[in-house]
Amino acid sequence: MRIIMLGAPGAGKGTQAKQIADKYQIPHISTGDIFRMNIKEGTELGKKAKTFMDQGALVPDELTVALVVDRIQKEDCKNGFVLDGFPRTIPQAEALDKKLAEMEEKMDYAIDVDVPDENIVNRMGGRRACVNCGSTYHIVSIPTKVEGICDKCGNEVVLRDDDKPETVQKRLKVYHEQTQPLIDYYNSQGILKSVNGVRPMEDVFAEIVRILGA
Ligand code: AP5
Ligand code: MG
Repeated sequence: MRIIMLGAPGAGKGTQAKQIADKYQIPHISTGDIFRMNIKEGTELGKKAKTFMDQGALVPDELTVALVVDRIQKEDCKNGFVLDGFPRTIPQAEALDKKLAEMEEKMDYAIDVDVPDENIVNRMGGRRACVNCGSTYHIVSIPTKVEGICDKCGNEVVLRDDDKPETVQKRLKVYHEQTQPLIDYYNSQGILKSVNGVRPMEDVFAEIVRILGA
């Protein structure tokens, strides 16, 4: 099963994608997580990506597409994968389709997690991410058991650099201009499914499972 998670920054793409990956035993491929790992490790890619990410802008298509095209050809992607945060522009979507066609494959579902802008800013301000394993929490809706400490690995959880309110506004603007057009793109391919993301995360997940089938 090949799945794309669409949705605004903070809509819950990552939260849902992790659960989909666990349930269906397919890799979770988050371009944001890959960039953050490269930043942490100080790689060339990380240095380039950081300048864009810190401003709430998109990393250039050529860097992002090369990364994903390489990743989806790995052995563990044979039975499918869930893409989180990619594609984010029409050229990225077209490049993905082209590559899959060469591999004689195609995407099965594009799931749009729909959350209005006014809910987003609250979610981002309350999000905490583990500095080590990347697990995400929310100080009100999904708190850690011990304040400030990751339930899974015991390291510190922090506010992401790009979750400051002014950067969130910029990311939302970029989302509406560059990423939202993908909803029509996948609708016209007949694979778009929209889910209401303003509900407890278990309910959102239950609806996604209904769409994907047990
Ligand atoms: P990326 O890491 O993809 O960030 P994003 O799209 O802005 O999305 P987020 O990760 O912020 O949100 P999410 O939808 O995953 O929500 P989450 O599940 O965490 O990208 C970061 C940057 O990298 C980009 O700005 C760009 O610069 C660059 N980049 C990445 N991919 C790129 C690409 N393809 N092309 C170019 N540049 C790219 O949930 C958010 C919060 O809400 C959490 O605290 C969570 O606990 C909580 N929450 C989740 N679900 C619920 C719920 N149902 N109810 C209440 N709270 C909930
Ligand atoms: Mg995410």
